[in-house]
Amino acid sequence: METAAFVKQLFEQTSFLDQPESLYEPIEYTMRLSGKRLRPQLLINAAVMFGGTPEAVAPAAVAIETFHNFTLLHDDLMDKAPLRRGNPTVHCKWNPNVAILSGDAMLVLAWKHLLQLQSDNLHDILTTFNDTAIGVMEGQQYDMDFESRHDVSIPEYIEMIRLKTAVLLAGALKIGALCANAPAEDIERIYRFGNHIGIAFQLQDDLLDAYGDTATLGKKTGQDILDNKKTFLPLKALELASPAQAEALRKIFTTECTLSDDEKIARVLDLYNQLDIRRYTQDEIDNQFSIADEALESINLPAEKKATLKQLAQGLLGRQK
Ligand code: IPE
Ligand code: IPE
Ligand code: MG
Ligand code: MG
Ligand code: MG
Repeated sequence: METAAFVKQLFEQTSFLDQPESLYEPIEYTMRLSGKRLRPQLLINAAVMFGGTPEAVAPAAVAIETFHNFTLLHDDLMDKAPLRRGNPTVHCKWNPNVAILSGDAMLVLAWKHLLQLQSDNLHDILTTFNDTAIGVMEGQQYDMDFESRHDVSIPEYIEMIRLKTAVLLAGALKIGALCANAPAEDIERIYRFGNHIGIAFQLQDDLLDAYGDTATLGKKTGQDILDNKKTFLPLKALELASPAQAEALRKIFTTECTLSDDEKIARVLDLYNQLDIRRYTQDEIDNQFSIADEALESINLPAEKKATLKQLAQGLLGRQK
């Protein structure tokens, strides 16, 4: 069975409902919405590539997706986002306290699923999971701190997205590889692959937040601009802007900005367009993908074993959701 079909079936069979309903219903709601299920697919494909089976790593695949969805509940609250996967976010549909507590429960449920793994490497797997989880939280804090800073550099931004997004993709791959007892040097290489795929993935997410279509993306576009997020787009714009343009952009990216939401988004997009920011962002995405590709190539396995992961990565290039 193809990995995507296996993952679909796995989540159809996994219920998150329990008592009290008020705690578990938002979890079930979130886990049922149609996400891309990228992280469990990465985990399973990595395991299979090194000789494991999807069935054996299924608890880890459920754990990693549950953890990812936990981060989304809290992220949407922190980002004041109204829409996720085309539906109201948990903090809007219920309330902020529900997003906090149901999210917390999902983090614990992730650990519970992980502990169901039968593996001699369980200690390393749990260590990887914990390092991953704390990395995401460090990244999320940098992301929030950057909202009120005006001197964020592009290397700082790359490090922030490596933490908040890439370590989870890399961690999923590493856990899959650990489950299949892959050699240590190949585990390092697959981690590196995940890191650069993850950085490209978040750059694309930031691009889609500015230029995507809300209906396709399932998230409200322009939210990063409204939140004064220091993504690659405004940072590159500041780098290329004339002194007058830079001054205008800095003024817009403050909490004191009095423009209406639509006007603020329109002004920023207009500046991005003048400076060709879309192309610069795409170039950096392509650059990160090619580093990822080299890392995958360096794994000590025949090309046909690596084809599924290569395809999955290529499918992410130019994604619209
Ligand atoms: C959203 O992740 C959060 C980011 C790291 C950008 P996805 O784009 O994988 O979201 P779903 O799970 O497919 O909805
Ligand atoms: C997501 O970053 C990172 C995590 C959820 C950890 P974003 O805030 O850009 O993700 P979206 O765009 O809301 O999915
Ligand atoms: Mg967000
Ligand atoms: Mg965020
Ligand atoms: Mg985003």
